[in-house]
Amino acid sequence: MTYYEDPGPGYGGLPARAAIRSDAPSISLNGNWRFHLAESVAAAPDGFERDDFDDSDWAVIPVPSSWPMHGHGRPAYTNQAYPFPVDPPYVPDENPTGDHRLVFELPASWSGPTVLRFDGVDSCARVWLNGVELGVIRGSRVPIEFGVDAALRPGRNVLAVRVHQWSSGSYLEDQDMWWLPGIFRDVTLIARPVDGVADVFVHSSYDHVSGAGTLRVDTVPGAVVRVPSLGIEVAGGESVTIPDVEPWSAEVPRLYDAVVETPGETVALRIGFRTVAIVDGVLRVNGRRVLFHGVNRHEHDPVLGRVIPDDRLRRELLVMKQHNINAIRTSHYPPDSRLLELCDELGFWVMDECDYESHGFFLLDWHGNPADDPRFLDASVDRMRRMVERDKNHPCVVMWSLGNEAGTGSNLTAMAAWTRDRDPSRPLHYEGDPTCADVDVYSRMYAAHAEVEAIGKRAEPPLDDPVLDARRRAMPFVLCEYSHAGGNGPGGLPEYEELFHTYERCQGGFIWEWIEHGILRPDGSYAYGGDFGEELHDGNYVLDGLVFPDLTPQPALLEVRKAFEPVHLTVTGDVLHIANRYDVLDTSHLSLQWSAADEGEVVAQGTLELPTIPSGGEATVQLPSITVPAQNRERWLTIRAVLNADTPWAAAGHEIAFTQAQLEATRPTERPSLPASVVLGPARFDPHTGRLTSLHGWDVEQVPLELWRAPTQHDARTWDATTLDRKTRWAKAGLHRLRYRTVSVQPDGDELVVVTMVGAAATDARVLTTYRWSSDGDRVTADVEVEPLGEWTVPWARVGVTFGLPAGFREVSWFGLGPGQAYPDSRAAARVGRFSATIEDLQVPYIYPQENGARGDVRWAELSGTAGRLTLTAEPHLALTVRRWTTADLADAAHLEDLVPGDRVWLTLDALQHGLGSPTSGAPILPPHDLQPTPHRFRFTLGG
Ligand code: GAL
Repeated sequence: MTYYEDPGPGYGGLPARAAIRSDAPSISLNGNWRFHLAESVAAAPDGFERDDFDDSDWAVIPVPSSWPMHGHGRPAYTNQAYPFPVDPPYVPDENPTGDHRLVFELPASWSGPTVLRFDGVDSCARVWLNGVELGVIRGSRVPIEFGVDAALRPGRNVLAVRVHQWSSGSYLEDQDMWWLPGIFRDVTLIARPVDGVADVFVHSSYDHVSGAGTLRVDTVPGAVVRVPSLGIEVAGGESVTIPDVEPWSAEVPRLYDAVVETPGETVALRIGFRTVAIVDGVLRVNGRRVLFHGVNRHEHDPVLGRVIPDDRLRRELLVMKQHNINAIRTSHYPPDSRLLELCDELGFWVMDECDYESHGFFLLDWHGNPADDPRFLDASVDRMRRMVERDKNHPCVVMWSLGNEAGTGSNLTAMAAWTRDRDPSRPLHYEGDPTCADVDVYSRMYAAHAEVEAIGKRAEPPLDDPVLDARRRAMPFVLCEYSHAGGNGPGGLPEYEELFHTYERCQGGFIWEWIEHGILRPDGSYAYGGDFGEELHDGNYVLDGLVFPDLTPQPALLEVRKAFEPVHLTVTGDVLHIANRYDVLDTSHLSLQWSAADEGEVVAQGTLELPTIPSGGEATVQLPSITVPAQNRERWLTIRAVLNADTPWAAAGHEIAFTQAQLEATRPTERPSLPASVVLGPARFDPHTGRLTSLHGWDVEQVPLELWRAPTQHDARTWDATTLDRKTRWAKAGLHRLRYRTVSVQPDGDELVVVTMVGAAATDARVLTTYRWSSDGDRVTADVEVEPLGEWTVPWARVGVTFGLPAGFREVSWFGLGPGQAYPDSRAAARVGRFSATIEDLQVPYIYPQENGARGDVRWAELSGTAGRLTLTAEPHLALTVRRWTTADLADAAHLEDLVPGDRVWLTLDALQHGLGSPTSGAPILPPHDLQPTPHRFRFTLGG
């Protein structure tokens, strides 16, 4: 058997230890290396490890790197499927093999024992120094160190690393992401002083009753532990109690600088005192129930692949904090250590997950699953061990996760047993075994709201085994994945959030997922699965983040921020209710600002006294009385809770929460009337079809009724294979190919009445659409009634009317919800106000084009540009979409660059819209957002 197919762990490595900051000398070997890619192991050059090997005609590649991102080979994306025949532990002959060589000089001052550390190599590597083999690395996202004393020499050294894309390890690394081989994390040469600090294990707990902290640092004999700010100086291994210590939490990430010293080495530590415990079925940190407002985070950079530069990493976390995200699941592997350092510092609850997924076996009914194959036992435990040892000192890590979607099996049980023994201080998580036999927390992905509610009541259907059932029923519950953010979505977040606040057992979860994994192409567009000619791929399923690949927030992130607000503001009458939903913090770091606006124009503003409310507490505040007289316009009060002072992650004034309430609701309703004819005020109608053909001299096209939208990613998929997705159902029902039959075009008094029958070929499901047009001379008003007839078996995507207008319109301003898009089940972040944007800026540039950009609850709007000025008003409120392409163009596009502005601006007014939901991954769209066909009536007015 080859070394890359051997199912055991790698060989030659030193015992795993913690990631530490030490004063022992080290040399970063990151930089430009020589590189040669062969399409198979057989085609790789012989003898490349020899120091006299001539690599002068090889390419140069940066290390760390994912080599397909540098023009060598190509990225490939699959979700579950293995992109090679499933025959563990074997891999195909076509096994891209990247040979890396680095010549480096060892400084003359260097002496003593030395190790060579690799922080991450995907997926298997064999390493030589000066022609001497050091060993083999398996396990892509955990570190390994080799002792190099027998090979290292003064002056010139040659490091040679042969990396194979496929290995036995690939069977354990079948995560839903790009396959990106390479030496993608740091390579470092590290001096290991003989009398140094080999390893440290910090035990720092907090007693929330007494306020005392206890510290013990297990390390080498003879080491001294110092925490200057606490006046502590104790021997390693000795326990010390500090009567009054500030605990660490994600909200108040108090760290104490410490050092561990031996004669040969000083290691710097940042200690956080905290205790994680499950008490009465609830997960508590420092005695408090915590609520995970989390995201699943993959490591992805659109240019570099799996290499994340420092500034990007920090920016990711700042954007999370600014959007009220307090937790990260490191899906589905241990992240670069720098992430955990920053999570300690900025404050996040972290679920640290092992690099362990064999999801492709799900497609084979789990037959042959490596998680249950004794040949993979040692490698399984080795992965877990190397993660736990590396990350054990981070206060941010509050849970270990055995991995993701690896079925069930004895190897998982062994991983759990090893971890419990090594670190009993943290609960274990794994979602893939419904019995939860090996873990401490009940976890599900994509459970629908109703199921979460049943679990919240501890009333979920029982397991067959009563003992396991009782054990699981007593566990806290988390959603390790929920609210899938594929494309335009998810909807339904506030309803989940309510469940988390209603049921103590439901301790939140982690939205799927943080980053959209698009790969930047030279033309500035982003590639997704299939764009690199992969034989087998999962298309745009890799695009499911809350942020675009460049970390720009998608509209869904604003919904997340709203749902996750740690203070909940509501207005009833003239009183503001404030509920403090922080885990720990009181409200003294916030202040309240209010403004009152009449139809979007601020008429008064000020601040409100915010009482100091403890975590979990509530209070009420009297609202200000506004003396400015209302002038028959909608008046809205907006109240915002903002930061009083700068924090490491946001400046003073940053908004944490907001609410709105309508104070005055009057609005004139006008009912224009003038004689009916095919000319009505500024409007002309086609005498045969009754459609609007011109308005104020503009040439207009009218589509009397639209029931379809460019399918979103969620419309186009379902979770379980037995149900059809909406895109397919809509296509079968013909919603995208409606035909129109004019029933009548007749004057009725002052009105023009146009009746149209709308339906698709091959079905008797129709909609009778009646327009009653009238005019006041300047404007035309349409009263529209829609009535479904025949047998409708699909929901509608929308009930809308579309107008094709001249291309000379550019700007849109409106009074309604904004500034961003709003859909029926995804609109909590939008607020009532007056907004404006260019048509271009109204679009959300989803990488895979789809329905987007609708502005909700629009009362009035204006379109302006060289074409002039068009006004519209709506009753009741309508959704407004303005684009330079049609719905069909949008649906046909595969990438953004396929969307080319045409010679018209298309304005759609929707009376109703289907929700966005998140059904790609389970949860159904909650009624009434599932838009079942029913009669409906709406009204709008168009003018110059
Ligand atoms: C889950 C899986 C994730 C991702 C998600 C859907 O089943 O754990 O890795 O594939 O579905 O995008």
